[in-house]
Amino acid sequence: MKTITLLGSTGSIGTQTLDIVANNPDKFRIVGLAAGNNVELLAAQIRQFRPSIAAICAEEKLPALKEAIADLDYQPILLAGDAGIVEVARYGDAETVVTGIVGCAGLLPTIAAIEAGKDIALANKETLIAGGPVVLPLIEKYGIKLLPADSEHSAIFQCLQGVPKGGLRKILLTASGGAFRDWPTEKLAEVTVADALKHPNWSMGRKITVDSATLMNKGLEVIEAHFLFGLDYKDIEIVIHPQSIIHSLIELQDTSVLAQLGWPDMRLPLLYALSWPERIYTDWERLDLVKAGNLTFREPDHKKYPCMQLAYAAGKAGGSMPAVLNAANEQAVALFLSEKISYLDIARCIEWVCDRFSSENRSNPNLDDILVADQWARQEVLTATKNLESHPKIISFR
Ligand SMILES: NC(=O)c1ccc[n+]([C@@H]2O[C@H](COP(=O)([O-])OP(=O)(O)OC[C@H]3O[C@@H](n4cnc5c(N)ncnc54)[C@H](OP(=O)(O)O)[C@@H]3O)[C@@H](O)[C@H]2O)c1
Repeated sequence: MKTITLLGSTGSIGTQTLDIVANNPDKFRIVGLAAGNNVELLAAQIRQFRPSIAAICAEEKLPALKEAIADLDYQPILLAGDAGIVEVARYGDAETVVTGIVGCAGLLPTIAAIEAGKDIALANKETLIAGGPVVLPLIEKYGIKLLPADSEHSAIFQCLQGVPKGGLRKILLTASGGAFRDWPTEKLAEVTVADALKHPNWSMGRKITVDSATLMNKGLEVIEAHFLFGLDYKDIEIVIHPQSIIHSLIELQDTSVLAQLGWPDMRLPLLYALSWPERIYTDWERLDLVKAGNLTFREPDHKKYPCMQLAYAAGKAGGSMPAVLNAANEQAVALFLSEKISYLDIARCIEWVCDRFSSENRSNPNLDDILVADQWARQEVLTATKNLESHPKIISFR
């Protein structure tokens, strides 16, 4: 029986993780749950999974949460606010913490979980992208395992089982191409929020769905792969694969290429992050190559998807630049989702902010440096929105 704490339990990753737990009650038990705002769903999850502790980030919702479970025959510890989420992350005998919080809000809870000696099933990629320089040494120091739950990184991790140290030569990250893969570049000026939220293959939270449309999600995954697997950026490539059947590939020193395949279903990488190194039987639909039909590939179009280049540039710059890129993206996507800026402005805002940070960036940032850079970048996006006319082109910063 593996004990699990789940951060972001009410989201897409969270509910799919709970689906796995519900279907394997002899293998997994929930110790802690944490959510942002959704009291009704969190209360229902507490009823069903009976955690020892739960927290809601929105402090004003704590009384409603208490009331919603007042009739239960047991009462979990109930907390609220950022501090409550951190407490859940480090609490009790949970062996693994699944990080399904969206955005850099996941960073401090993830650090707390690592410092409490818990293994991390990492869905919340923003944590590693922003916090890589501090998170990686902590993993080493506390001797915990970082198990990728992002589908591409799980694919790479699965392919790497049995590959000796030094055997990996190149990573090929597959990308569906997002909502606009079949749109001509000229039409992107007309994109609406509803258009950007129509992902062709995956059903996910709103922020990551927009990131998939801009391909910033793939850019963020390049940085995530760099931190997880230690390859240089020149050895991490993106290839468009519209069917999302091959979840990613690795090339080995002898040019052999290994891939992991499956229907697009996030439960599979989540289950592997929880069961590794074991394989658990499931009754999920099995891959049928004939039904899948064609598996096709094309080069990514950097003109159409400038966010990829921005992410590579930020990754190569290192230091706090990935944190700045990530925070600028979070803020710009939030502005786009509330219809304050256009789709094309997302990349422009990010570039504006990263450009301005270039001279401030320093290598080996500590946690404070990263948190300060994150806050600065969010603020700077608001300035960027008023100056985009004077900054109309995507020219990658150095
Ligand atoms: N969805 C996928 O298929 C997928 C695939 C690969 C990677 N990921 C990554 O997994 C993470 C989650 O994505 P998602 O699609 O599951 O997002 P989502 O559906 O929007 O869910 C986000 C979750 O985080 C919670 N949350 C937000 N802010 C919080 C805070 N400050 N403190 C505590 N909880 C907070 C939300 O709570 P409320 O809903 O209660 O507000 C919700 O439970 C992201 O980093 C994403 O990049 C997702």
